[in-house]
Amino acid sequence: MHRHVAVGGSSRMLRPRQGWPALHAIFNMLALSCIIISDLLLNVHGLKDLKIFVPEAVIMGNAATLSCQYDLEKAALYSVRWYFGQEEFYRYVPREATPTFVFPVAGINVDLTNSDATSVTLKGVTRDLTGTYQCEVSEDAPLFHTDIRSAHMQVIELPKDDPAMQVDKKVIGVNDNFKAVCTVGPSYPPANITWYINGRKVYKTPLQRITQDAFEGSTTYSSLEIYPHSQVLQGFFQAMPKYQTSILLLCEVSILHVFHKNVQQRIGLSMAPPTTISPNLLGLEGSKRYVNGDPDNSALTGAAQCSCSAIGVLTLAVATLLAAQL
Ligand SMILES: *[C@@H]1O[C@H](CO)[C@@H](O)[C@H](O)[C@H]1NC(C)=O
Repeated sequence: MHRHVAVGGSSRMLRPRQGWPALHAIFNMLALSCIIISDLLLNVHGLKDLKIFVPEAVIMGNAATLSCQYDLEKAALYSVRWYFGQEEFYRYVPREATPTFVFPVAGINVDLTNSDATSVTLKGVTRDLTGTYQCEVSEDAPLFHTDIRSAHMQVIELPKDDPAMQVDKKVIGVNDNFKAVCTVGPSYPPANITWYINGRKVYKTPLQRITQDAFEGSTTYSSLEIYPHSQVLQGFFQAMPKYQTSILLLCEVSILHVFHKNVQQRIGLSMAPPTTISPNLLGLEGSKRYVNGDPDNSALTGAAQCSCSAIGVLTLAVATLLAAQL
């Protein structure tokens, strides 16, 4: 707007030259046409700020609402078109008696009651609808300015089974290897599996091996192998107040930000190798607390019995020796 005023001002400045009225009228006309043309070219009033909103991830079978925001300023809307890949599936033309049009595109089921000039809703999305969506907005005559934006949508198929964890030991000694496996049923895309010990993520290192396998349509599998002196267990062994303690091993399964599930298991840590004297035998408090708190300590009980008989044999030998000397 202000540009018209500014040029009007300069034409008034030409007025003192009274001898050339025809010339300055022509000049004014030229200036005016320049303004009109530049307004047309520079799109002073019209479509701007086109933005597309497409959910990043949608669970299979759910509805998805895609929307497009734009500012037409003083222009009128001619059409909004939506494309999946290169195929148009929905068009909104307000000047038509029935402004909404749906074009058949495989897998797309438009919910017309929830679609209008700024949004389109898809019912019961299937995996095939993973891909790029585009929204194209055109303003009406005389300029028909058009702009287009695109965004990606991922349709997710959740795993039907809960995650499961298997461990090769319920109690880990300082010099033990340890292996745990976490599995979850097939999903699309395959889930990510992350391991945590006492709430802290376990990273891949030479002493903490993590592998993950996922094939489309089959179970996703991750294994965690921990070797003696691993970074993650070293700290626990060093800080152990008594002879035994335990850690919480957790396997988290996630698919983008849409799905998170976990499975956890408590694992004992034992300082004493199985053949040495058990703390039970020495009458330490810590071990009793552990025995009451955790039913899965059969290995420890076994160790205690073993040392018992070892001490028995030793006592017998010493007694025999003493008797022989007497
Ligand atoms: C798995 O994790 C990676 C890295 O964080 C991420 O880029 C990817 O989208 C995730 N995949 C799934 C299915 O969650």
